[in-house]
Amino acid sequence: MSAPPPAPTPTPARTAGPPAGPSREPYAPGELPPGPRAPAAVQTVAFHRDPLGTLQRARDRYGDLVTVRLLLAGTLVECCDPQDARRVLDADPGTGQAGRARQGLLGMVSERSVLGGDGAAHREARARVAAAFVPAALEGLAPRVAALAAEHAASWPTGRPTRLLPRVRALCDDVFVRLVLGVEDPGRARALAGAVQRMLWTPGNPPTPVPGQQAGPLVQAAARAAFAQRSAAARRLLADEVRARRAAGRAGGGAVGALLADDALGVGDAVDQLLPLTMAGQEPPAAGLAWVLERSSRLPALDAGLRGSAPGGAWWRAAVSEVLRVRPPVHTAARVLVRDLPLASRTLPAGVVAAAPIVLLHRDPRAWEAPEEVRPERFLRDGRHVVDEVPAAAYLPFGGGARRCLGEPLTWLLADAALPAVLARIRVAPALARAERQVVRGTVLVPHRGALSVLHPA
Ligand code: HEM
Repeated sequence: MSAPPPAPTPTPARTAGPPAGPSREPYAPGELPPGPRAPAAVQTVAFHRDPLGTLQRARDRYGDLVTVRLLLAGTLVECCDPQDARRVLDADPGTGQAGRARQGLLGMVSERSVLGGDGAAHREARARVAAAFVPAALEGLAPRVAALAAEHAASWPTGRPTRLLPRVRALCDDVFVRLVLGVEDPGRARALAGAVQRMLWTPGNPPTPVPGQQAGPLVQAAARAAFAQRSAAARRLLADEVRARRAAGRAGGGAVGALLADDALGVGDAVDQLLPLTMAGQEPPAAGLAWVLERSSRLPALDAGLRGSAPGGAWWRAAVSEVLRVRPPVHTAARVLVRDLPLASRTLPAGVVAAAPIVLLHRDPRAWEAPEEVRPERFLRDGRHVVDEVPAAAYLPFGGGARRCLGEPLTWLLADAALPAVLARIRVAPALARAERQVVRGTVLVPHRGALSVLHPA
């Protein structure tokens, strides 16, 4: 079947220029925008069970700036107007700090890493590994990604209910460890992929949030101890890899190779850099690919469109972009403000954690026509795949500004090479008629039953 034609009327692009408006009066010290009064524990459970619905209700009731209180993540000001959200993410690093915000949400990332660092520490950490993630560095990997995906998909059980999410996770881990980190020893690669999976495993339903700095010293200490234990095997294997390469006198390929080009970096430091990278490189793409399979199992036009269009072509990419809109793997990108930040209506004061609620912005009816419908053609113009011409401020699956996701090209490699290899081997049918809710599990949005499906040979 051929892919559906592009939509005739594109939605005009909007950009986040300097805010205009009647009042940009700052909040008084200690004052914050209004928000739900329920205790933090109640807000946390509601948010983790139904992040989109909870945010929609809060925005409808309190307006575009809403203060939410979450048990472990602390107090966040959700900036629900797309232009405001963009301003938060585009704020210069001297105004908004992403590393501190992530440490607040995710206590165990090193402050010297690309994920958890700020200022010079972040710039150095990002510069060390960036070369391993540019499209040119990944270009040649497509056949190996496709081969790994085919191998995994061939081992997935058919004819009985199975959860797709853990299987896609295992695939993403394998790709990351072997091809992106560049671990060549097959035994170590297998052990490391397994250790990464165990490190990131989150207990089932109800989903468990990850305690961050706001959680208080006792909870934080307990969480750190638990994570240290869980990540011990991955740390040891990463350290073994670093030592083996140093002993062989060559940095080797992939992200580990890029890091080890810096001779001054110690083994512990290298592991501190690699661990958050491995976390960031596994959970969101696994959730993203699982959602593409889950959505296509319930939407025949999407499934037929994917199967009938060229992998990596305009329609294919538009379809994946659209799934990332309706089911974004990362629900929020946040910054700790170290200076006041003027937004459209008010100025947020320094000290506040300002958040761009990605999951809510992607359904904003002011930006999207029929936001709940899956329409890949939103991302097509004259047969080209476009993301800059959609309402750009309301489409932020990879965040924005200086801290925008480093792994977008790798995500496209997985979407263009792994996904077709999987679809060529299996057909996915939902195991239960009722659609799966998107819930927060750890730090990502996943289908609440893990995309419980019955697979059939294609
Ligand atoms: C569907 C797939 C993915 C999604 C939706 C996603 C989403 C995001 C988001 C929303 C952020 C925060 C951006 C911000 O604060 O403005 C982020 C940051 C990041 N992502 Fe991804 N990501 C994906 C895949 C990956 C992959 C495959 C990697 C590979 C390592 C990766 C590495 C990173 C890193 C290192 C950062 C921090 C960048 C920095 O602060 O400089 N991501 N990602």
